[in-house]
Amino acid sequence: MIVPRSRPGHTSNRPGSADVQCLGPVGENAAVTSPEPTTQTAAPAGTQRSAHLFARARAVTPGGVNSPVRAFDAVGGTPRFIASARGAWLTDVDGTAYVDLIGSWGPMLLGHAHPEVQAAVAEAVARGTSYGTPTVPEVELAEEIVSRAPIEAIRFVSSGTEATMSAIRLARGFTGRDLVVKFAGCYHGHVDALLASAGSGLATFAEPGNASPSTPGVPASATELTLVLPYNDRTAVEAAFAEHGDRIACLITEAAPGNMGVVPPAPGFNAFLAETCARHGALFVSDEVMTGFRASRLGQWGLDGAVEGWRPDLMTFGKVMGGGFPAAAFGGRADVMAALSPQGPVYQAGTLSGNPVATTAGLTTLRLATEEVYTYLHQVGDVVKAGAAEALAAAGVPHTIQSTGTMFSVFFTGEAVTDFAGAQRQDLPAYAAFFHAMLDRGIHLPPSAYEAWFLSAAHDDRAVQTILDALPAAAEAAARAGGKA
Ligand SMILES: Cc1ncc(COP(=O)(O)O)c(C=O)c1O
Repeated sequence: MIVPRSRPGHTSNRPGSADVQCLGPVGENAAVTSPEPTTQTAAPAGTQRSAHLFARARAVTPGGVNSPVRAFDAVGGTPRFIASARGAWLTDVDGTAYVDLIGSWGPMLLGHAHPEVQAAVAEAVARGTSYGTPTVPEVELAEEIVSRAPIEAIRFVSSGTEATMSAIRLARGFTGRDLVVKFAGCYHGHVDALLASAGSGLATFAEPGNASPSTPGVPASATELTLVLPYNDRTAVEAAFAEHGDRIACLITEAAPGNMGVVPPAPGFNAFLAETCARHGALFVSDEVMTGFRASRLGQWGLDGAVEGWRPDLMTFGKVMGGGFPAAAFGGRADVMAALSPQGPVYQAGTLSGNPVATTAGLTTLRLATEEVYTYLHQVGDVVKAGAAEALAAAGVPHTIQSTGTMFSVFFTGEAVTDFAGAQRQDLPAYAAFFHAMLDRGIHLPPSAYEAWFLSAAHDDRAVQTILDALPAAAEAAARAGGKA
């Protein structure tokens, strides 16, 4: 396998890979691309300290984690407690280093501990951490995002969940309507109204009142105004709008779903959604919390709306725009955003919204996220995807690799995945075996088959080669677990 070289002078420093030309690091991040793991990645030092911490955590925190998927429930085993991270590498409390393919679930576009981001954050911290008054970095970050995204105004919040929750409230307040349309398998955070049939394959031509809460604690009254449709299904969208169009406040969709694995919108699907909403006086809310500044420099919109000539009415952002800190946002048309308090009547607020440290991290990250970074992510992604496809094919494991821009995921099914029902046809035991075989060889994949694999600009030759070296044995493990064609 040939790994593209983005700049001369960077070759793999891992034994046995002298014949492989590898990507160099991007920009100033060169300084963090070659940390020295304290142990061999191919021979983990054990998990005693992680296991001990997990036991302590479980005694005081439900499931031992502060966000469910971190618990390894889908793959079994002991979650690794990470002590530090640099560039493309995580080091756990037992001293084992892993190539990171989680990337904090999306934010770490530049890799961990980027020196410029760290320096900017350190300076911001030295000036104090939160004032509860307007600050310079939040204005600059707002200007940066408004100049890059097809929005005219923006409001900062602290999480993607807050962003989608606020966008929906604003859509309802602006239109004076109540119904919200979403797609099965799209995740928009743990907003009550959006936890309707999320993660369920039961999507139908929904009737108001028929969308069932996905979790105890969400009353039926919170989801009875939510319509859940199958993703990529124009007929279902047309039927829902024909029936309920004059009551629909907004349709919210992941700009390209990444929370059931990466399921790209069919060509023209987002344009169709925007046009359908406009025709019925509803707002089109494009959730770019995951894809924003990740799928491309302009997010998923840069791959479709910018080319096709349409704009969402509202957008939501998070992850990359926070540079690893709790920052998120929603924004959109000036007339819609003007309905927001204190300019308009729709109330929304936050003690830490636009926090100066978080907005400094986000601003520095976005300024460093040049076209060169995205070109690099494409190149390195192509190498990893080709390596995964080759290894899985050689082992006879049914698989499908899907991408949108620089985002991709590997499905453990031989069929193309266009919706949540398709994603659910994966061989989950095969993924669990694959995951653990990769982990044993020093690669930390997301502990769920329904997630994107996140690369960063710091995934250099050595990190990529470590992934490539691990893939064949992991594919064999998946085959043994039942994933053979
Ligand atoms: C598309 C999308 N929207 C919203 C959210 C919620 O963001 P947060 O976890 O910051 O609340 C996520 C989180 O993964 C997401 O992927």
